[in-house]
Amino acid sequence: MESPVRVLIHGGNGRMGQSLQRLCRNDGRFEPVGAVSRKVGPRVVDGVPQFAASELAGAPAFDVAVDFSLPEGFDRVLGMCLSRGKPLVSGTTGLTDVQQAALAAAATRIPIAWAANFSLGVALLHDLVARAARALPGWNCDIIESHHTRKQDAPSGTALSLGALAAEQGAEPRYASIRAGDIVGEHTVQFTTAGERIELIHRAGDREIFARGALHVAKALHGQAPGLYRVADLLG
Ligand SMILES: NC(=O)c1ccc[n+]([C@@H]2O[C@H](COP(=O)([O-])OP(=O)(O)OC[C@H]3O[C@@H](n4cnc5c(N)ncnc54)[C@H](OP(=O)(O)O)[C@@H]3O)[C@@H](O)[C@H]2O)c1
Repeated sequence: MESPVRVLIHGGNGRMGQSLQRLCRNDGRFEPVGAVSRKVGPRVVDGVPQFAASELAGAPAFDVAVDFSLPEGFDRVLGMCLSRGKPLVSGTTGLTDVQQAALAAAATRIPIAWAANFSLGVALLHDLVARAARALPGWNCDIIESHHTRKQDAPSGTALSLGALAAEQGAEPRYASIRAGDIVGEHTVQFTTAGERIELIHRAGDREIFARGALHVAKALHGQAPGLYRVADLLG
């Protein structure tokens, strides 16, 4: 039998981190070797050792790090993956241009997959948006995203990546963000011209879809050559 992929979860006590811990714990293909947070919190999943960010250098051996933290924590986990020569899967949004450049540079030395959204549905939405933008020159393109009130960045990383793709096809996307209640994540990409409108909508009802996608990608990335991998290719 294949030995389980040893996963270090960075941002382990967060909403996504807890979901990752539970999924890893209950799936024999993965072994959660540690959960790293700013400070050691309550043990959320039995048997998963907890570490503070200040102890990151002493974290146990792992095959892949999965990072869903905040931009403040990103540099440190990237640096640790580089120093240990291990792959990184990151879903942390709101990274600066400097951090994105550091990620691209690091991908010459280790395998990396970063995405603003790890759901299969959103991967397909990207393809549909690119196709619509190409087919509808001159139409207005508006991206409306809704998330829970604790989300820190706006527009969402997913809205920005959908917009970047539409812009590559000549559209001029505009953004609107709604922060309300406990909405997990909704994205509407709307193309409008006189007399008609197309809406492409994705609604996430459970953040476990992102955690499942990230673990799927982590397994696919384990053992790959260095490079920046497109999550859409690894999710399929
Ligand atoms: N790509 C996707 O599919 C996707 C999906 C959902 C969310 N996200 C993104 O994932 C990130 C996390 O989301 P969330 O809702 O889980 O947030 P959250 O609940 O606020 O959790 C953030 C976690 O990161 C930890 N953290 C913060 N700063 C850190 C640092 N400097 N070093 C180490 N750990 C640090 C926090 O530690 P403490 O617990 O000690 O505060 C916490 O455990 C956000 O950027 C969000 O936008 C991406």
